[in-house]
Amino acid sequence: MKIIFPKHIAIIMDGNGRWAKNKDSKRIEGHKEGVRTVKKITKYCAELNIKHLTLYTFSNENWLRPKTEVGSLMKLFVSTLNKELKLLLDNNIRFKVIGDKNKLDFITRKKINDVEYLTERNTGMGMNLAISYGGRQEIITAVNNIISSKRIKI
Ligand code: IPE
Ligand code: MG
Repeated sequence: MKIIFPKHIAIIMDGNGRWAKNKDSKRIEGHKEGVRTVKKITKYCAELNIKHLTLYTFSNENWLRPKTEVGSLMKLFVSTLNKELKLLLDNNIRFKVIGDKNKLDFITRKKINDVEYLTERNTGMGMNLAISYGGRQEIITAVNNIISSKRIKI
């Protein structure tokens, strides 16, 4: 029997905090467990030759969380990108952040740009991390891009 795998897998990440609470642990421990799970999923998907893996990680609404949680999450993004660049390179994965990068702090933005640049020539799986994403904002950005590319006049 031939198994046909999807070309694109998208996952909305959720429940990290509840996972931690069930273990009488802090929310950040749930986010760290989330990173470990993402690592496993990324390796499996690359091995299975999935073309695109999109992870919905941090939505626009998530900016409204306590500053301490947002700060810890941003630190976790940066430290994970530092640690896992080798995994991306070894598995020929092209890394990309989709969402509004402008809202991110300088250090996080710089790290993301570096990892995108260092993996852009990889020809295997494309990994998209949705950070600071939202449906309305995507429409606004798309319309603004069309206007600034002068494809329509207003
Ligand atoms: C998903 O887990 C990860 C992020 C949104 C950063 P949550 O943080 O939403 O965890 P719950 O839903 O509160 O348990
Ligand atoms: Mg949630």
